[in-house]
Parts: sequence; C-alpha cells; structure tokens
Amino acid sequence: MRQPHPSPTPGIGIDFGTTNSSIARASTNGSIDLVQFPSRTGTTESFRSVLYMDRTRHAGHLRLTTHTGPSAIEHYLDAEKKGRLIQSLKSYLSASNLTSTEILGRPFRFEDLIARILTDLRLEAERHFKTEIRHATVGRPVRFVGAETEADDTFAQSRLQQAFTLAGFEQVHFVMEPEAAAYAYEATLDRDELILIGDFGGGTSDFSLLRVGPNIRRRGRSPQDLLGNSGLGLAGDTFDARIVRHLVSPALGSNSLQRPASKHLPAVPAWIYTNLERWHYLSFLRTRNVTEILKSAHARAVEPDKIEALITLVEEDLGFQLHQAVQRLKYELSSSDSAEFRFIDGTLELRQQVTRTEFESWIAEDLAAIETCIDSLFQQTGIDPKEVDRVFLTGGTSFVPAVRSIFERRFTKTKVRSGNEFTSVARGLALHAQERQTRTA
Ligand SMILES: Nc1ncnc2c1ncn2[C@@H]1O[C@H](COP(=O)(O)OP(=O)(O)OP(=O)(O)O)[C@@H](O)[C@H]1O
Ligand SMILES: [Mg+2]
Repeated sequence: MRQPHPSPTPGIGIDFGTTNSSIARASTNGSIDLVQFPSRTGTTESFRSVLYMDRTRHAGHLRLTTHTGPSAIEHYLDAEKKGRLIQSLKSYLSASNLTSTEILGRPFRFEDLIARILTDLRLEAERHFKTEIRHATVGRPVRFVGAETEADDTFAQSRLQQAFTLAGFEQVHFVMEPEAAAYAYEATLDRDELILIGDFGGGTSDFSLLRVGPNIRRRGRSPQDLLGNSGLGLAGDTFDARIVRHLVSPALGSNSLQRPASKHLPAVPAWIYTNLERWHYLSFLRTRNVTEILKSAHARAVEPDKIEALITLVEEDLGFQLHQAVQRLKYELSSSDSAEFRFIDGTLELRQQVTRTEFESWIAEDLAAIETCIDSLFQQTGIDPKEVDRVFLTGGTSFVPAVRSIFERRFTKTKVRSGNEFTSVARGLALHAQERQTRTA
C-alpha cells in the first residue's frame, strides 16, 4: 500500500490542454520549475495531450497497450498496422450524450481515457520533482468546448475531476485558465495593472479582466480584483477545421456530385466531411458503415479520383498526417504572407498555395465570435476598454496574426504583450497553488 507523503505536496500546477499539457511547481521565492518530458528528440515542456491504443501479442494473447504524449505519436508512427490515436480528448468533456467510445472493439469512458494521460503526466512529474503528487491546482477553460449552458460547464468540470481522481489525485483545485495566465504575467510586473488576458489554445479562447501586481499580491487578493471572465469553445482546432473545409475537403470530393450530375446530389454525405474537420471525430470514420458509404459513392461519383483519395485517407487512417499538414500550413501563415499546403503520403498528394488573406477569410466568422466575446466581457464588467493598462496574450493560437491584431487594433500595439505561449497557464497555476499554500500555512 502507498504511504501518505509526510509533508504537503508543494504547489503543483497542471495545465491539461486540448493539444498540449504542462506541469509546473513554484518555489517560495516564485521561481518556476517545469516538468521536462522525455521524447526521442530530446525533452519538452509541453506534452502532447494524445493517447494511442494498440493491440499487441503477449505470450500468445492479444493485449491492449496504451501510450500517451510523445510516446503515443512515436508508437503510432512506428506501427505497421495502426491502432487508434486520439487527439483533443478535452473537447468531449461537456457532451453528456457521449459517455464512451469504442476502441479496438472495447468501450471506454472518456474519463478513463483522459485519466490515462493524467496518470502518465503525474508519473512524469513525480519522477521530475522526486516526490509523490496527490494534490494539484488544475486549469479549466471559462467555457468548455461544446458547452452551451452553465450546467454543461459544471458537468464537464465534474468529468475532468473524475478523470483526475481515477489518475490517483486525491485533491484537485480548479482555477480558470486565463486567471492562471494572469498570475504568470503578474510575476513580470513591478507595479499594479488592470490587465486583459487572452488565452488562445487548441480548443478554447478564454479571457479575464483583472487587477494584478506586486502590491495586490502583498496585501492579499480580494474577489474585487477579478473583474470578470468570458470564453468560447473555439480556437486552434476550429481554425484547422476551416482549413479542412475550404481546402482539404473539396480536394476529397465535398463539392463533387454523383451521376447524373443534373440531379445535383452530393456524392458523399456532408456529415463525413464534418467529421473530417474535427480531430477528435476523425478516428471514428474508420467504421464498416463509412467504408460501405464511400465505396458506393465512388461507384456513382462524377469525380471518382477525389472520392478515391478520401477512401485512402480513411482506410489508411492518415488523420494524424493530415493534421500535421494542416498545422504546418497554419504555422507558416503565422510568419509568412503565403504558404504551400502539402500533404503527401503514398499515392495521395494534395498541394495548394494559400495566402494569409485567404486563410483569414476562412476564419472570419471565428474572429468575429472572438470579438463578440471580448465585447461581452467589457459589457458584463462595465469597464471601459481605455482603462486597460496592458493586454497579455498567450496560448499557441495567439501566434495567429489576425488574432493578435484584434487586440492591437483595440488597445494599440504598445499595450499588447505575449510570451510563454505553451507554459504560462501551468506557471500561473503553480504560483497560485504556492500562494494558497502560504496563505493557509
Ligand atoms: N505558430 C503557430 N501559429 C498558429 N497556431 C499555432 C502556432 N503554434 C501553435 N499553434 C496552435 O496552438 C494550439 C495549441 O495551443 P496550446 O498548447 O496553447 O493549446 P492547449 O492549451 O492545449 O488548448 P486549450 O487551452 O484550448 O485546452 C494548436 O491549435 C496549434 O495548432
Ligand atoms: Mg491552454
């Protein structure tokens, strides 16, 4: 049996992200130690939030094996016959009608799948900090992906809590992710400021308006320092979905008709392309039903080549490679005005030059939703945007120039700061944990 740890676990912050996770510990002097996760190419501070399940033969019996993080991707890429790679698991949490999924013929609850990632994160952190970890300060988005009501958010958080319990955590304290990022930013300040935080991740975009700074920390925080939070379940994954919709799906027949073309009937039902857009649904396309639909679509299609390419993508389970190609294009468009989308795998080859302006037109609706969400935060708090001293942007999607320019336009370039895009939430969670521990000690 496990012995309880003699002293309380030092403040550990865990950012379980839709795309990347990180873990930090803050010492009493405020310095931060980030867990270094091993991978084949060296160590990394951000652990990909992915899970890979495969069947392997042991002493004549087939056994399910699970890998998480960098090792999941390595095993997936190495496998000749692919198992299941699941991404963006956090995005399922609010869906009360989706409790489990079948993997390699067995049902798994989402909490259990997430718990497998969290267990490995805990073990890596224990190895790194050389201590048992049973308590953690954990981030949550203001609004979970797919959550429409407060009840959906509460439900999602309770599932995340369950996943942490299953992963061996006895006590978990939740903090809003953008508030955590604010504490990380606060550590760089030498005077108090009214700040707006924008945390743009893989699944969610979150905002906090709050007063932070050395004097506030010294006098002790009051609830009035937090003016408000807002958020929406849309971020990097949604931008990827737009690239799939406007570029990849048409190349795979989304606008193709079945014969006779005069009837204007689509060759492949639209829901298949909708699943193709979402990384967390993509692996569900490998079913017998979808194979049948695609086969008959191929036989009837006006452009069978495109449907054949779609069949190859689904049958050979190239979702991850497609995801990589989409992300590469997105990253390149963050630093260049134009980039080539390249997806080449065996017989499948898709290439297309894309300008940043084109990409921005694909995500225009999402950018508008982000602007509305920021407006609602100012309306709800009654704060005049002119009062904001500084804007701090973080999260991987804050690299997207169109996202940054929303803030530069509204608050001027000189007020916008950014940094530690992949670790500021974990850093801030650790600082928050440390502060709470000092207060209660
Ligand atoms: N240079 C870049 N340009 C555009 N997007 C990027 C860039 N780098 C990373 N991203 C995107 O950032 C997202 C991941 O960011 P991050 O790690 O902050 O998210 P997360 O914390 O896992 O998600 P969430 O906070 O929503 O749960 C991905 O969608 C990724 O494609
Ligand atoms: Mg995040």
